[in-house]
Amino acid sequence: MNVTQEIKSRLDIVDIVSETVTLRKSGRNYAGFCPFHTNSRTPAFFVFPETQTWRCFGACAEGGDVFSFMMKRQGWEFKETLEHLAQRTGVELQEFTPEEKKRRSHADKLTDLLGAAADYFHQLFLHAPQAEQARHYVQGRALTEATIAAFKLGYALDSWDACRTHFNAQGYTDQELIEVGLLTENEEKGSRYDRFRNRLMIPIRDGDGRTVGFGARTLDKDGLPKYLNSPQTLVFDKSHLLFGLDMGKRDIREARQAVIVEGYMDVIQAWQAGFRNVVAQMGTALTEAQLQQLKRYTKRFVLALDADAAGAKATLRSLQVARQTLDRDTEVRFDAYGLVQHEARLQADIRIVTLPAGEDPDSIIRADPARWPQLVAQAQPVVAYVIGVATQDLDMRDAKAKTAVAQQVIPLIKDIADPIERDHYWQELARALRVDERALRQTRLPETPRPSAPPSTAKSTPKSGNGGTAVPRLTNGQTQGGGMRQTHYLSQCLHYPHLIQQVNERLVQCGQTAVTEKDFLHPEDRAIMQLLPQWVQSGGAAHHQAVVTIDELWDILDDSPTAPLTRRAQHLLSLPATPDVEMERLADQLMLSVLDWRLEKTRELVNEVEQYYKEAQIENDAEAVAIYQQLKRELPVVVWQLNKARNAMTAANRRRVADKV
Ligand code: UTP
Ligand code: MN
Repeated sequence: MNVTQEIKSRLDIVDIVSETVTLRKSGRNYAGFCPFHTNSRTPAFFVFPETQTWRCFGACAEGGDVFSFMMKRQGWEFKETLEHLAQRTGVELQEFTPEEKKRRSHADKLTDLLGAAADYFHQLFLHAPQAEQARHYVQGRALTEATIAAFKLGYALDSWDACRTHFNAQGYTDQELIEVGLLTENEEKGSRYDRFRNRLMIPIRDGDGRTVGFGARTLDKDGLPKYLNSPQTLVFDKSHLLFGLDMGKRDIREARQAVIVEGYMDVIQAWQAGFRNVVAQMGTALTEAQLQQLKRYTKRFVLALDADAAGAKATLRSLQVARQTLDRDTEVRFDAYGLVQHEARLQADIRIVTLPAGEDPDSIIRADPARWPQLVAQAQPVVAYVIGVATQDLDMRDAKAKTAVAQQVIPLIKDIADPIERDHYWQELARALRVDERALRQTRLPETPRPSAPPSTAKSTPKSGNGGTAVPRLTNGQTQGGGMRQTHYLSQCLHYPHLIQQVNERLVQCGQTAVTEKDFLHPEDRAIMQLLPQWVQSGGAAHHQAVVTIDELWDILDDSPTAPLTRRAQHLLSLPATPDVEMERLADQLMLSVLDWRLEKTRELVNEVEQYYKEAQIENDAEAVAIYQQLKRELPVVVWQLNKARNAMTAANRRRVADKV
């Protein structure tokens, strides 16, 4: 059994779905309202305990197993889902080295203590008479009970040792309290005292929701510092954290955009108003580590930054970091694949919006929530923004200053992938500087060393995996035959990525949809299928015969060699490739194979629906009967369409062969 199967065998999909969907029994199965689209009339969402699958027969027409359900529900990627479910079921994903184990268990201990501290401060906030001022303060900032609870806002007593005494009594040592930054030690005086006193406590959590530190706001109008943060600790590194990421990642993925703001209160206020794709960089410049984390959820960022001059400068600094991060990434790609395609350059869409002077997201949203999405929508592309900022106070009589601006902006323009867009900015810069565009294009740039690529991730060769060869389990409408066809399809597409496109073209010609991850049975295959097109788009398809090496594949999968995705990919690649002289025929074959597995799947669904229909009738379950009846009308049409496509394809195939002869 491989890891995903092991995990599935320890879970019941009914339990998992029931966590968020109210299910009622319908025959052997369970029905409810689909959580993935708004519906309130017919409960067209079904869970099938026997096959451990789910399916929505309503608007979204999706289905899958416990992995795809969790991925959709949480907005997670495969890897996150795997980690979560593995932890939940106690399945070991990887063997850690003893040192790594030790480090992790130590870090866990620290985050446990910090989590306990967040609870302690929160309880004080809610109930302690001394917290009256804090509650009053929070009320003044118009935060609701639900928001206070969601962010677990707290209060630290105005005392030098209340926190220390509390946690000492719970068995935590001073050393541990110092290590997490709750206790401060003055070595000269030999004294120890609570770091946070009489402050509003804002727990800072990492992307996984573990408490790693605090931002503590003064309650006095001019108290200094305004925010006292946790010191740098083993688990708290401000430059690696984004405040609000744990609360926002799902919405970021759904909105396909992350809005990055400056402060804690901005995130909290936005969240309360329902704008939940917002995170804060906590006052420091945006770092590479922060962007890398966000890039897991979206490649579209909007930086919403303060209007003041310092803000503008910080923005330029942030931009430089942003460019370097993304550049570096593309460079790794270029090295790995030897493809110089401008498509891949600046993979992210970064936009900037400057907030009205004297305001921040918190004040804007509080005054009028409707203004927030309007502002975000006004965000400008980076280059346009930079041109604006750089020419803002420019003395048009100062030629040298113009050159300096040009030298700052031109590298950005040159990086733009799209030629029309690039041209647009040449013109825009020329206009802004009031110089001739040709002169601009001839401007010599000072030599700047390119950010060097990180050492090529020399990932060790994995232990010869035997985990990938697992026999597919028979599930809902997908037989072993389907599983084998899917394996063949994927292995050939990994050997010859341009096949994906060719097969899809054939499918579309016959009125069918392109292959997506939803066509696949195994969660690993689905994940691989989701990742492949990214790579093909970035150049693989242009390359007629891009044979993927294992090492290149690791890079696409962004996964360690022992992890299930990579093991599966390794197995797929170990299967023989068809000689490439027969590409056209192979594409035909694969296309037919896709049709076959779809047919098989649909036919089985027809049988299942027939059974469920009978059961629903016996049980007098009118709602279920109605849904199954509709399916009994619809599914034969799908079968008919698939057969039609199959016939058309076979005929075209015969003609092609005849032409050649
Ligand atoms: P701001 O000074 O803009 O504060 O700092 P703010 O978020 O608007 O705070 P309120 O609305 O007055 O409560 C922006 C961010 O910079 C960090 C915090 O993360 C803050 O949210 N900061 C600021 C500190 O860490 N320490 C400080 O003393 C000030
Ligand atoms: Mn503010």
